[in-house]
Amino acid sequence: MSASLEEIRLHGAIPRHVAVIMDGNGRWAGERGLPRHAGHRAGMRAVREVIEGAVEAGIDILTLFAFSTENWQRPPSEISALMGILKIYAEKERRDLVRQGVEVHVLGEVDRLDGVTRSAVEGIVQGTAGGENLRLNLMISYSGREEIVRAARRLSEAVRSGSVDPEDITEAALENELFTAGLPDPDLLIRTSGELRVSNFMLWQLAYTEIHITKVLWPDFSREDLFAAVLDYQRRDRRFGRVPAS
Ligand code: IPE
Ligand code: IPE
Ligand code: MG
Repeated sequence: MSASLEEIRLHGAIPRHVAVIMDGNGRWAGERGLPRHAGHRAGMRAVREVIEGAVEAGIDILTLFAFSTENWQRPPSEISALMGILKIYAEKERRDLVRQGVEVHVLGEVDRLDGVTRSAVEGIVQGTAGGENLRLNLMISYSGREEIVRAARRLSEAVRSGSVDPEDITEAALENELFTAGLPDPDLLIRTSGELRVSNFMLWQLAYTEIHITKVLWPDFSREDLFAAVLDYQRRDRRFGRVPAS
């Protein structure tokens, strides 16, 4: 199923924050008898598509899961291919992202990246600062559990130093220590390649997010697939634990 921009504009409210687990690159390559890194490279086109689609649709925040903490356990050759692609992406796309008014943020344990990849990533963050049409969060070396542990650690340090009282540790206080501090939770989560799990992604933030799973493999994902996910979202009845509005 795919949908058009017209359809979603007519249908209802556009989600403010959309998060995507970009999955299926390896299988896409396997189906073609290609090495896994060819799938990752092909996935760059889909990243471009989904960003353009998000800007067109008027989505405010797009969060893309690019590399998980657990992905460090993949073979070194695959990791180095992924880092190479990330570096190329950061260098090649910068001008286009600025033109589209996209502001890039990188969330995750960025210290674990090698020096060259890290400076390319820092370059795209600095180079796109001030973009006003879309905030793009690239989740790199990210783990939802680790993010919560990090927040707990930071709050504990504040308690130890006397600047925070244990009673002041509220949901808002913890949220404030997450990588996504200050951002609204995702309204919609998309996972490609048909897997029915969250794989340690945004565990805190997804509490009431609507989930759309598509069998499409990430390199084949198009803006029409994004619009189809938005249309699916627009048909949902978000109750947040309450009874439906009468
Ligand atoms: C998603 O595709 C990209 C990353 C996790 C980095 P995969 O590499 O997980 O592809 P599959 O799931 O093996 O097909
Ligand atoms: C999740 O995909 C991580 C990213 C998309 C970056 P994985 O392919 O790593 O997840 P599992 O192993 O299928 O759960
Ligand atoms: Mg996968």
